Amino acid sequence: MRVLHVAAEIYPLVKTGGLADVVAALPPALAHAGADVRLLLPGLPPMREAVQHARTVIDFGTVFGAPRVRLLQGLMPGTQLPVYLVDAPLLYQREGGPYQASDGRDWPDNLQRFGLLGWVACQIAAGAVDATWAPRIVHAHDWHAALGCAYLRAHPASGVRSVYTVHNLAYQGLFPIEDHALLGLSAGFMSPAGLEYHGQMSFMKAGLKFADRVTTVSPTYAREIATPEFGCGLDGVIRGRSASVSGIINGIDSAVWDPSTDSAIAQLYDRTRLAGKAACKLALQRATGLAEDPDAPLLLALSRLSSQKGLDLILSALPSLMEEGVQVVVQGTGEPGLEAAFRAAADAHPGRVTAHIGYDEGRAHRLMAGADMILVPSRFEPCGLTQLYGLRYGTVPVVRRVGGLADTVQDADAQHLADGSATGFSFDRAQPAELVQAVRRAVALYRQPPAWQALMRQGMASDFSWDGPARDYIALYEGALREPG
Ligand code: ADP
Ligand code: GLC
Repeated sequence: MRVLHVAAEIYPLVKTGGLADVVAALPPALAHAGADVRLLLPGLPPMREAVQHARTVIDFGTVFGAPRVRLLQGLMPGTQLPVYLVDAPLLYQREGGPYQASDGRDWPDNLQRFGLLGWVACQIAAGAVDATWAPRIVHAHDWHAALGCAYLRAHPASGVRSVYTVHNLAYQGLFPIEDHALLGLSAGFMSPAGLEYHGQMSFMKAGLKFADRVTTVSPTYAREIATPEFGCGLDGVIRGRSASVSGIINGIDSAVWDPSTDSAIAQLYDRTRLAGKAACKLALQRATGLAEDPDAPLLLALSRLSSQKGLDLILSALPSLMEEGVQVVVQGTGEPGLEAAFRAAADAHPGRVTAHIGYDEGRAHRLMAGADMILVPSRFEPCGLTQLYGLRYGTVPVVRRVGGLADTVQDADAQHLADGSATGFSFDRAQPAELVQAVRRAVALYRQPPAWQALMRQGMASDFSWDGPARDYIALYEGALREPG
């Protein structure tokens, strides 16, 4: 089965969050399961530099006002999967992030930048690029790739089906509706039955309305987004597609996240050799200026600093958490107010709270290996990967029971402790007192080393490989292909 994955990020080249990790790991897992997979990515500078043996396969000329648009084909370093890169120097060759300039403002031409990505997907699907390889499935990720589903509706390619995965409904790709003419879609697409969203144009809606199948990254989030509380104004649209919406939980890439092989960490360990984790904890305390205390429970927050992640709950809970004798290490970037607040918290609690305001992959691995618990108190969480990395690293997750967090962490209540299925601690409401209560329960168990180690080992034994999810996606593709177009 030929499948084209379309996305704006891929680890380790361009990454703003978990999307990049998924786009790096799911396609090779599908290939391993027998699919014939290719990728389509925008030709951002890190992609241009890294893709191997890139050659021009088609010259599109001027598209959406951008001159010299070409499609390159090469191989992804590492996985060696075939990859197409949209080379459009005017749109992609610039310093800064994939969606925003360094000053945090959205690129003013994001409409053309990501409209083009979807348009090219449709060209490939139509066989215009390679007469010998056209996908049966175009799998678009998040709003950046969603317009591909609208172009495929406008120009159906025989036998091709589209799948749209929502990684985060809160980022929708909204643009002035007057600009739609730039995209070459007819005005009919801009109605409420199409991309129109409260007087604007929504790329997200292109995926939700026009994909043959809509998925999101956990079963619970798939149910949540059909409700006003989590639907970001699109819950009605999602309910309207209920027969075609489903949730498939993400896996993790064990080539990247595995404490028994991780070259970034101080000492390797696994569930049968936990001593290495104590060494990682000491190394972490030394490196970050925390007191070198093996018995202080070390809590980690590793996250984008955005309101989604509920990190303000940690700030509010901090005085109570300090009373529990814990240490806290934070790494993240994002909202300036949260960055400043975590810096201030670190200053206020020297040796007990430390904050690294920045993005650093290697350091993220060392924090994951050295901490005892990872806090993920999200307001909403489509899947969440850091709690999965925590489980893998014996870093017990303390999470709010929403979205993928609810689906992946089994609370250590009396019953689940007794039957051996507990893997972490969960709480229901986004309130500091509930977070504190969950941490208290965790600290109480931490003070009983045999029970704590059993909990760690249970989490470390959890299977979050991509094999199962890859099989689920293939079944979904087959289902979509069986339906008449
Ligand atoms: P989201 O995609 O909503 O940010 P996920 O949990 O799915 O949340 O994925 C976050 C990814 O980003 C993980 O791979 C995590 O390790 C990484 N990450 C987040 N913040 C940082 C940071 N400051 N430094 C390094 N990695 C980070
Ligand atoms: C989004 C979500 C996160 C999810 C990731 C990968 O960024 O916020 O919960 O894990 O996508 O699917």
